[in-house]
Amino acid sequence: EEEVELKHVDWSFSGPFGMYNQPQLQRGYQVYKTVCANCHSMDLVSFRNLGEPGGPEFSEAAVKALAESAQVTDGPNDKGEMFKREGRPSDRFPAPFANEEAARAANGGAYPPDLSVMAKAREGGADYLYSLLTGYGEKPEDMEMSTGMHYNTAFPGHQIAMPPPLADGVIPYTDDTEQTVDNYAKDVSAFLMWAAEPKLEQRHLLGHRVIIFLFVFAIIMFLAKKAVWKRVN
Ligand code: HEM
Repeated sequence: EEEVELKHVDWSFSGPFGMYNQPQLQRGYQVYKTVCANCHSMDLVSFRNLGEPGGPEFSEAAVKALAESAQVTDGPNDKGEMFKREGRPSDRFPAPFANEEAARAANGGAYPPDLSVMAKAREGGADYLYSLLTGYGEKPEDMEMSTGMHYNTAFPGHQIAMPPPLADGVIPYTDDTEQTVDNYAKDVSAFLMWAAEPKLEQRHLLGHRVIIFLFVFAIIMFLAKKAVWKRVN
C-alpha cells in the first residue's frame, strides 16, 4: 500500500485557544444535509443540538424549521405500524436507508458509515476528512482499480467506493463564502468535528480559567510566603 499524505488546514478550533466558527458550522451543516445525508446517517445528533451553545448555534426558530423540513420515522402506533411524520427539534437526524443491507444495496455493496463521530474515529481527524473530500483525481497509469472504485489520495489503499461527493457550485451558500469544493470540504469537516466533539469550546474555556486561576494563585502563594517568612533571615 502506498503512503497516505494528509493536507493540513489551519482550523479555527485547533490549538488550546481554538474555537469553532459558527457561520462555518452552519455552512457545514448545509453541506451535510444537501449532499452527505443522501448516503450517510448521523444517528447520534439531534436537530436541537444545532441550536446549542458551542455549535452552529442556529436560532430556535431555525432549528424548528430545519426539523420540520425532515420526515422522520416514528412508531409503532397502536396498530403496531411505523409511520412517517414531520420532524421535531428532539428528533435525531433521519437516516437515508432503513438498515445496512439497504444502504449497501444502494451503494454497489459498499457501506457509507455513520458520520456522528467520524472526525474522531479516523487518524488525522478533520484534516483527514478534508483530505478525503479533496483527494479525488486521476489514478496513476500503472494502478489497477477494482470496478466501481474511485481513486483518492487520502483513502488507505487509494481506492474508495464513495464517488466524489462535491463539485464547485452545487450547494448555494447564503453568505458570500465562495462556493468551491475546497470551502465545502472545509466547512463540512468542521461541522463533523463539532458533531464528534461538541464540548470542545467548553473544554478550552475551562482550560483558560484553570490557567488564569493557577497564575493568580501562584502570585498569592508567593506573597503569602514572603509575608510568613518576613522576620526570618
Ligand atoms: C465513505 C464522508 C457523501 C457514499 C465515507 C467516509 C467518510 C465519508 C468520512 C469513510 C472513509 C473511511 O472509511 O475512512 C462523506 C462526506 C460526504 C459524503 C463528508 C459529503 C460531503 C457521500 C455520498 C455518498 C457516499 C453522497 C453516496 C453517493 C459513501 C460510501 C462509503 C463512504 C459508499 C464507503 C466507501 C468505502 O468503504 O470504500 N464517506 N461522504 N458518501 N461514503 Fe461518503
